[in-house]
Amino acid sequence: MACVLGIETSCDETGVALYDSEHGLLCHRLHSQVATHAPYGGVVPELASRDHIHRLIPLVDEVLAEAQKQPADIDAIAYTRGPGLIGALFVGSAFAKSLAMSWGIPSIGVHHMEGHLMASMLAPSPPEYPFIALLVSGGHTQLIHVLSFGQYQLLGETLDDAAGEAFDKTAKLLGLGYPGGPLLAQLATQGQASRFKFPRPLCDRPGLDFSFSGLKTFTRQTLERSQQTAKDKADIAAAFQEAVVDTLMFKCQRAMKQLGQTRLVIAGGVGANLSLRDKLKHLAATEGFHIHYPKLEFCTDNGAMIAIAGMMRLMQHQTDAHLSIEPQARWPLACPI
Ligand code: KG4
Ligand code: ZN
Repeated sequence: MACVLGIETSCDETGVALYDSEHGLLCHRLHSQVATHAPYGGVVPELASRDHIHRLIPLVDEVLAEAQKQPADIDAIAYTRGPGLIGALFVGSAFAKSLAMSWGIPSIGVHHMEGHLMASMLAPSPPEYPFIALLVSGGHTQLIHVLSFGQYQLLGETLDDAAGEAFDKTAKLLGLGYPGGPLLAQLATQGQASRFKFPRPLCDRPGLDFSFSGLKTFTRQTLERSQQTAKDKADIAAAFQEAVVDTLMFKCQRAMKQLGQTRLVIAGGVGANLSLRDKLKHLAATEGFHIHYPKLEFCTDNGAMIAIAGMMRLMQHQTDAHLSIEPQARWPLACPI
């Protein structure tokens, strides 16, 4: 039996959680920095780092109290080592490693995207290995063949903007604030997707790579040619979202066919998009494959995914070998096959 404290600070959310090998997720807390960054229209890295410093100790105290645990009950501290904002990663890494040292337990540097992948394992019926994973976040868009925990083959990825990044940049073009993805998705519910015909990038070519930067340009041109009324903007948002969702679905379907897989896992912040979830659910039903999503709250950044990924690393005895603090702003998860 083991209990892992998980700490996430890679970007604009401070997440802390406790995961127990026998009882699963004991509790988790999240502090969102939306209010801090909203006046600037995007994440200000220095403010993100400073805010993580303020939040970490109270959040750790809260999860320990809620789970009725003492430091002596914790077997390891997992933290996001990368990829992400370097200052924010430094805060989490230094905090986690120092706390682990003072408690006399190991620390475990976790890959943020492995955390996103493992968020699907928090569900009541987790996917069995092997499976195909669509990782869609603010910084990544990848299709990965997950053979087992820690064994990842990169099947395809974006050649330019990540899906979440495209949502965020397009939201800005439409005059929406930060965080752009959820705001654009909300506006899209009021729009008519069929009014504007957006391209489905790279769907006419073989392979499993993505490209989303053209959709952003297409949005700008469409917007400039319109009257830019509220209806125009809602229709453009809906058409943009449909183009991204269709493209992701098309490539998922192609990957599933190419590898003869029957299980698809969606991970990362864009996985919270309701249109993507609905359409993929429908596709899975017609194509006869199983689809797994994390709960909505575990799609975007959180401490629970770092705690569970840390637990899996702990089970494989993969704890930090030394005390030096080495966050990695860039860090590939999977290698191309
Ligand atoms: O995984 P995540 O929380 O952080 C990263 O690791 O990047 O993903 C954040 C990204 C942002 O780009 C955000 O706009 C996008 O996920 N996102 C959404 C939605 N919720 C978050 N995009 C579209 N629809 C949503 N509902
Ligand atoms: Zn993330």
